[in-house]
Amino acid sequence: MLTRREFTTALIAAPYALRAQQGPLRARIKVDTERAIGDIDPLIYGNFIEHLGRCIDGGVFEEGSKLSDANGYRLDVLEAAKKLNVTILRWPGGNFVSNYHWKDGIGPRDRRPRRLEMAWGTVETNRFGTHEFLQYAETMGTEPYICVNLGTGTWTDAQQWVEYVSSSQDTAMTRLRKQNGRQEPWKVTYWGLGNEMDGPWQMGHRSADDYGKYALEAAKLMKWTDPKIKLIAAGSSHFGQGIDWIGWNRTVLEHLKRHIDYLAIHRYVGNPDNDYYDFLTSSMDLDERIRTTEGVINAAMSGEPRSRRIYIAWDEWNVWYRARGPQQRGRRILEERYNLEDALVVATFLNSFVNHAHIIKMANMAQLVNVIAPMFTNDTGMFLQTIYYPLALFANNTKGRALKLFVDSPTYESRRFGPAPYLDASAGYEDGMLVLNVVNRHRDQEVETEILTQDKQFAGPVDVSEVNGADIKDENDFGSTKVQTATRSARADNRTLRYKFPPHSYTMLKAKLT
Ligand code: AHR
Ligand code: AHR
Repeated sequence: MLTRREFTTALIAAPYALRAQQGPLRARIKVDTERAIGDIDPLIYGNFIEHLGRCIDGGVFEEGSKLSDANGYRLDVLEAAKKLNVTILRWPGGNFVSNYHWKDGIGPRDRRPRRLEMAWGTVETNRFGTHEFLQYAETMGTEPYICVNLGTGTWTDAQQWVEYVSSSQDTAMTRLRKQNGRQEPWKVTYWGLGNEMDGPWQMGHRSADDYGKYALEAAKLMKWTDPKIKLIAAGSSHFGQGIDWIGWNRTVLEHLKRHIDYLAIHRYVGNPDNDYYDFLTSSMDLDERIRTTEGVINAAMSGEPRSRRIYIAWDEWNVWYRARGPQQRGRRILEERYNLEDALVVATFLNSFVNHAHIIKMANMAQLVNVIAPMFTNDTGMFLQTIYYPLALFANNTKGRALKLFVDSPTYESRRFGPAPYLDASAGYEDGMLVLNVVNRHRDQEVETEILTQDKQFAGPVDVSEVNGADIKDENDFGSTKVQTATRSARADNRTLRYKFPPHSYTMLKAKLT
């Protein structure tokens, strides 16, 4: 006997079976370099480290390890992170930040207080604090982004953190910084006004109205301390049934629209029902939330001067559903292992960010290492998870202007979003170089595609990079890489490139246009 769910899944699966018998699948993609969506902000290739599980402790930072330098930074992780071209790094949380008192994390490491950590149920040693983070960001060559505690923290805590880090005046805070070994101020432009304040799980959770009022006073003090900073408000992260996530954003914007530069939204997706085709439409959920949030921002900003812009910072996103739930207490938590289908979903998320380049001006994958992350360590080494590969390809190549593509692809009927195209694509164009990203969502069939340029011609060979594996459930592990990037070359003919996108693949095509 089939269970109800198996029966529904079988029904949904039927059209794919039919389609598979209908011969080759064909698609067309038209590229016009004059049709631009907006400039791709490099900050969409950001990441995030939190005092959570083994992300910082045992991932980024492992004092005494043979793999670490004198500061305690794990060098293997640092090297792999550099290759991901992480453009901005958010810290210290996440849920952790909502009871983090930054003054605990400065001064001689051995004298820092050990504190009970209530978000994730551990003890925080505070050995990795402001100096360790900012030096790490400098070493990595990435823009630092600090989120302040607007849960149990005060306005003064937030203001003094900006002063300690950025002020060049002679004050008690800057003397303290110098006494702790840093003479010159750092340059920290990006500051977050709390984390997921809409979530009942958050320490110091508030209503939208209470958060808006509280964050406004913090914002004023922080900007008066350093007028050059950019502020990110905590938008929606809680999307369950009956949750007024749009209302949260609307209220927060009403309070903060004259002070903030970004509204942050968060999204984690998963495949708990083992429904591949439904999971692969997750980016369509993202698209919908982007359009809605953009509308709410536009409504809030109508009547405000044109020079005042608020963008979306998608500052936590990823696949996360296996290592979730009440067991999320202690050290080895959120250690999600990723497979090929997760890597494809990650590629479609990145497509979505590029396809909304005019409004998404920052995004941070959560998180960098071990905790729902592209890298995974143990005491003696590390491996790259499947999701590392699409992220690295995007971050190192998809730049410049985002192009509005015409994509004519066969579709399937998806459970949540109706017709879903098998091909999901995005493109970046810079200095005559076209980068085309294409995910073929079809599990079993290739899609024969004609890529047609409208205003230019292909010049020279096309570099192909493909992330794929034998099976959608393939995972990587220590010493075993089943999913990774393969490269080859293809030929185009003047204005046409004919390419067969293999089943369950992400392909990046890179070509010079003249
Ligand atoms: O990234 C893991 C957690 O997810 C973060 O701490 C929190 O902000 C979100 O709920
Ligand atoms: O698991 C607790 C919370 O639930 C997470 O922090 C949040 O992202 C999720 O919705």
